[in-house]
Amino acid sequence: MKERITIAKNYIESKTEFKPEVIIVLGSGLGDYGNTIESVAAEFSYSEIPGFPVSTAPGHAGKLTFGYKKDKRVALLSGRFHCYEGYQAAETVVPLRTLLMLGANFVILTNAAGGINMDFQAGDLMVITDHINFSAHNALTGPNIEELGPRFPDMSFAYSKRLNRLLDEVAEEKGISLRHGVYGYMVGPSYETPAEIRALRVLGADAVGMSTVHEVVAASHAGAETAAVSCISNLAAGVAQHALTMEEVLEAGKAVASKMRALVDGFLEKI
Ligand code: 6GU
Repeated sequence: MKERITIAKNYIESKTEFKPEVIIVLGSGLGDYGNTIESVAAEFSYSEIPGFPVSTAPGHAGKLTFGYKKDKRVALLSGRFHCYEGYQAAETVVPLRTLLMLGANFVILTNAAGGINMDFQAGDLMVITDHINFSAHNALTGPNIEELGPRFPDMSFAYSKRLNRLLDEVAEEKGISLRHGVYGYMVGPSYETPAEIRALRVLGADAVGMSTVHEVVAASHAGAETAAVSCISNLAAGVAQHALTMEEVLEAGKAVASKMRALVDGFLEKI
């Protein structure tokens, strides 16, 4: 994987001198944040970057944008790769690790997730305080990339308490209500059964989704300060009284996109 990351980094460096400080990863339905970049320095479709995988998920454009937002040099990854598409976890984090190699040291991740916590409602935003990876996948399998970090990285501080406090401050200032909780990772692509959701609740998950944890592990490995916010797009199986659909997830993402945008904007000002 190191070869792919190096090839991707070399390609990007051949096209621009821009060095991102903050990486923003946009999840389902939140992809239009890219249109709010104040001055675009460079733009790449994933398919033109050698080494990058090719996105197949609906609602994911597959685009890397460099530019300025709130005076910060940001890299926006619109569209991500998932294990359910058939990629190895290590492949899914090639784009993120390429940007980490370029020197970015802050990461903010967004996703759509199913609500497990009985207090949650569709449309809530949840700051992720920790995760449980309910799979045998890990982003760091394979030879360790020493330039990025150690073989056995600690995960005690994977979700930055400082950044989460900043998110709370922004939310308070802008009147956005935030939930906090543990994100449970399931590979998918089928949603969980009601019994699985009950099991995940007992084990301590407040929300469930099919992304983000590999990126958090890769970012934390590289020493980047990391925060992640879930849009609770729907209630998980058995919590909701109806069947779950992808359309519902994308629609809810659009409905909370403005709240998410305000949160990320405020966050970039404070970071
Ligand atoms: Cl209910 N489950 C999973 N695994 N991912 C989701 C979801 C549920 N809702 C949105 N994303």
